[in-house]
Amino acid sequence: MSYPATAFAVKDTYKYLEGLGNYHSSEAFPGANAKVNNSPQKPPYGLKTERLSGTSFTAPRESNLQTWMYRATPSMFHAEYMPYGNGETPAAPTYLSPNSYMWPKFPSEPKADWISQRLLAQNGNPATKEGLAIHLYSVSESMPEHTAFSSMDGDSLIIPQIGTLDIQTELGKLLVRQNEIAVIPRGMRYRVTLPDGPAHGFICELFQSHFQLPNLGVIGSTGLANPREFEIPVAYFDGKLSDDGKVAVANDAEYRLITRQAGRLWSCTQASTPFDVAAWHGTNYPYKFDLAKFCVMGNMLFDEHDPSMYVVLTAPAYSEPGNAIVEFLIIPPRWMVSENTLWLPYYHRNTMNEFYGPIVNAQEPTHPLNQGKEKGSRPFGAGLNGTMVVHGATEAELEKASNAPSTPSKAMNDGMSLFLLETEKPLFVSDWAAEAAIKNMNGKNKPANSKL
Ligand SMILES: [Fe+2]
Repeated sequence: MSYPATAFAVKDTYKYLEGLGNYHSSEAFPGANAKVNNSPQKPPYGLKTERLSGTSFTAPRESNLQTWMYRATPSMFHAEYMPYGNGETPAAPTYLSPNSYMWPKFPSEPKADWISQRLLAQNGNPATKEGLAIHLYSVSESMPEHTAFSSMDGDSLIIPQIGTLDIQTELGKLLVRQNEIAVIPRGMRYRVTLPDGPAHGFICELFQSHFQLPNLGVIGSTGLANPREFEIPVAYFDGKLSDDGKVAVANDAEYRLITRQAGRLWSCTQASTPFDVAAWHGTNYPYKFDLAKFCVMGNMLFDEHDPSMYVVLTAPAYSEPGNAIVEFLIIPPRWMVSENTLWLPYYHRNTMNEFYGPIVNAQEPTHPLNQGKEKGSRPFGAGLNGTMVVHGATEAELEKASNAPSTPSKAMNDGMSLFLLETEKPLFVSDWAAEAAIKNMNGKNKPANSKL
């Protein structure tokens, strides 16, 4: 391979459009997109016009998210939504402490599918469109046939730690593998199947705003995650043309739709497939990105510069210009060359909350890092350093790094990257997650000379 990319074990045969932020259009049949007129009296192939908005109509052009869809049956034709599962609204997480948390591993459930997500942490409130949630998914089964999921609570950033997700959305199909990320817009229906065994990872559900590329400032016009490396699905129609190719007819099937609203799951049925969009055009679409294509900026002479240079996607906080509701970062393989500099993160207290985890990108279950490490981050785990919780290297790491030669070397080249979700507001942790966590992993539990 002559360009930076993950050597994925599972190959992706889907086609994609390129470029995050572009106005895209795609059609499963030639001429299926309406021309010029967005809502024609009679759309092509007997299709019906439907729109999915991500922003208010009056949002500035550069942030306006709207997509027109041309589908066989309007989504409106469904039965009444009824509470799904136990019908209860899960309690909002309330656990907050000044400790750091570490999850060496998470409890897993047998026979879990995508609907079995567990709320790990949250700030704000989905009902008032403030803040975000972090869900854990640990799935061993595909979603049942003829079942689709959506979240009315926000855009979902999917961060696989292990495994491959085959995601069929209303706008087309994406294969999302370990060391890739994907974003699914608020309200979009999708179905997740597992082409390569169990999968595990996290979903950052953004109750307000949207993920976007960070501005580059003095870096210039390229670098970090370049827009053209983001992949957008092409239209896929679950059906065929009939009547001599004049009418798009969707496959006949009763579907169950499960949706999350204010944290609560609801379900309804409809008589047709939700994947009957023959064409679409607009700016509100799902996308994915290979983290190996992140163009890292470095520490080139001295000092450890701010981790903002590792931001892949950000969601700006308009209430405080320059701040972010959440930033998604990766600490990937990179060259370390700084002179007279500690090649470890300095000890710090951050106003942002740092939820982090490792991604083993070896794509190989027998890779040593998949077997866990003696201490610190283990694959499949995560950690959280909340607002003003001091963190940094262990004494042993500090001793080693303080005496190491400053010879240029490549760090993180052992098949593991770290991801971080830096959130503006303190993250409240669910009771089950608080119980599963080891507290204060960053330092000794008690000073050796303590008399208290
Ligand atoms: Fe930090």
